[in-house]
Amino acid sequence: MAKGSLSIVVSRRLQHNPFIKNSAKTRASRAPRSPDSKRASPTRTAAADHKQQPTDVRLGRIVRLLMEHATVVVSGTKIAQEISSNRSEVWRLIQQLRGLGVDVAGHPATGYRLRSVPDLLLPEILRPLLRGTIFEDHIHHFYKIGSTNTAAMAAAADGAVEGSVFLAEEQTTGRGRGAHTWDSARSAGIYCSTVLRPALPPSDVLVLALAAGLAVRTAIVEVNARVSIDLKWPNDVLIDGRKVCGILTEMNAEATRVRHIVVGIGINVNQADFPKELQNDATSLRIATGSEWSRVELTAALLKSLDREYRQFIEQPGARQSILRRFAEHSSWVRAKQVRIEENGTKVEGTTEGLDERGFLQVRTPQGLQTVLSGTVREVKEAISH
Ligand code: BTN
Repeated sequence: MAKGSLSIVVSRRLQHNPFIKNSAKTRASRAPRSPDSKRASPTRTAAADHKQQPTDVRLGRIVRLLMEHATVVVSGTKIAQEISSNRSEVWRLIQQLRGLGVDVAGHPATGYRLRSVPDLLLPEILRPLLRGTIFEDHIHHFYKIGSTNTAAMAAAADGAVEGSVFLAEEQTTGRGRGAHTWDSARSAGIYCSTVLRPALPPSDVLVLALAAGLAVRTAIVEVNARVSIDLKWPNDVLIDGRKVCGILTEMNAEATRVRHIVVGIGINVNQADFPKELQNDATSLRIATGSEWSRVELTAALLKSLDREYRQFIEQPGARQSILRRFAEHSSWVRAKQVRIEENGTKVEGTTEGLDERGFLQVRTPQGLQTVLSGTVREVKEAISH
């Protein structure tokens, strides 16, 4: 925004509660680093993320070419022609692909062949699966990045178009809500941030964030209908009470209108285990179902269902009610759950009684019905003492 403009600059994270700050650890995200740890300052991290090089597009082209000729050996010369390069550069790029876990047989003298389809979130692999969505032509892939959300926020501030999507195989400073970090092991999970530019007031963003949770649920169930998903308000996706996905929605807004939103989604897909401090709270789709998942298939399903939810929300007048109804339908937390929400010295304890029309959680307490604007909700198993 231009300096000197009259509009109020509100560039802030969409906190689950502007009045409550997270003090405890969110599930599946690590505790905040200590102030004296070596973590880069937000400014340094944003700058570094923005400078990080996206994946060399030639790697994607080689993978695509080898996939199109899956049963035959493709000569180094042919690959070199396709990527307008030479055979020794092809060899270097093939070595790079191998380093990233792509199983390529062969060498310069024999040519190359894919031994198995790689499960990498490369634009060349995803684009054909995302035809007709707002994401199709704006996929940015990184092998390693600080945080896809940081990169997406910086790109959005620089004018990145709606539908820009940032995907990484690994995040070194993945961020969760509050000051938490997000464990982002290489090629085990999906680390995905999308830039949206809806013509909405900031107060509507929570409902959009709830819709993102629904999109994650739909995608998982589309890939495997036997998985039972529980949505925890506002933005956690659980299996058997453990967190399988977290969503970090950040926005840049004026007082009455959103400039851009970044919806960052982290899904634990093929992790076989987690760092000790997360073991009780986190799960992955692999742990929950006993088998490996295709990240490519799930990412495509995710972006397609996010595209559907988003279009409905901005185009259809009844979408808000539908989102609130479906969220409540797929959540064991929204009604009749004894909960405690503590943040910033504020504590709300009681029984949940649904969502209001803005998506806020209603909690029945001895003082009456309270509206919780945000916060980490915890179940209270023992009788609540007031
Ligand atoms: C939470 O539950 O605390 C939210 C976790 C959000 C993690 C995702 S991973 C992709 C994107 N990039 C980030 O740095 N964070 C989000």
